[in-house]
Amino acid sequence: MPQPLDDELRQRLANLCAEGWALFDRFAVDVREKHFHPFVAADYEVVLDALVRHRRPGLRFLEWGSATGVITIMADLLGFEAFGIELDSSLVTTARALAARFQSDARFVAGSFLPTGYRIPLFKGDGRSGTLGSGSSGYLELGHPLDDFDVVFGYPWDGEEPTMLDLMKSYGRSDALLLVNSVSGGVRAYRDSRLVTA
Ligand SMILES: C[S@@+](CC[C@H](N)C(=O)[O-])C[C@H]1O[C@@H](n2cnc3c(N)ncnc32)[C@H](O)[C@@H]1O
Repeated sequence: MPQPLDDELRQRLANLCAEGWALFDRFAVDVREKHFHPFVAADYEVVLDALVRHRRPGLRFLEWGSATGVITIMADLLGFEAFGIELDSSLVTTARALAARFQSDARFVAGSFLPTGYRIPLFKGDGRSGTLGSGSSGYLELGHPLDDFDVVFGYPWDGEEPTMLDLMKSYGRSDALLLVNSVSGGVRAYRDSRLVTA
């Protein structure tokens, strides 16, 4: 069982969530009101709860599409060795500044979380993957391939969850945990493509 959080850590995490929401509000006005951008913030408090339940000493964590870095920094503060990959380099700059403010060792790389050569499969039915951008893969700069990670988090848009599962099946470790945020169902946890209920 993971240890309960002490009061000081709880407060730091609450401050981080509050700052994350303020950053997202500003982003909505400065960017999203002017043109489409795929960054939508997950419900930080719900994701925090999932990370607290799944944290174990020594685990390595990766966030796919880390945006302002809130969730990766959360993971670092909870004791994961935490990394984020984000395509939009201005968001990576924001994430690094946020990590510095919270004295966090979370590391961020500008690039794609899709490994070089990976082709998004065509899924039956509603297999949209329209907001997944393309760019140079970030894993080389990260210094870790996908199968070095114990826990991976992603917040897919509608129809993109099958791509995240396929990515994990193709390049991740079969014993790694994939945490997928969904608008309606909180955070779903998968291991080896199967839902984990605990
Ligand atoms: C729905 S937002 C989620 C943001 C953050 N993970 C959260 O949960 O609050 C998806 C993010 O993924 C980024 N993104 C889209 N395609 C990407 C790719 N191929 N590689 C890296 N980041 C990508 C977007 O720029 C955006 O910031």
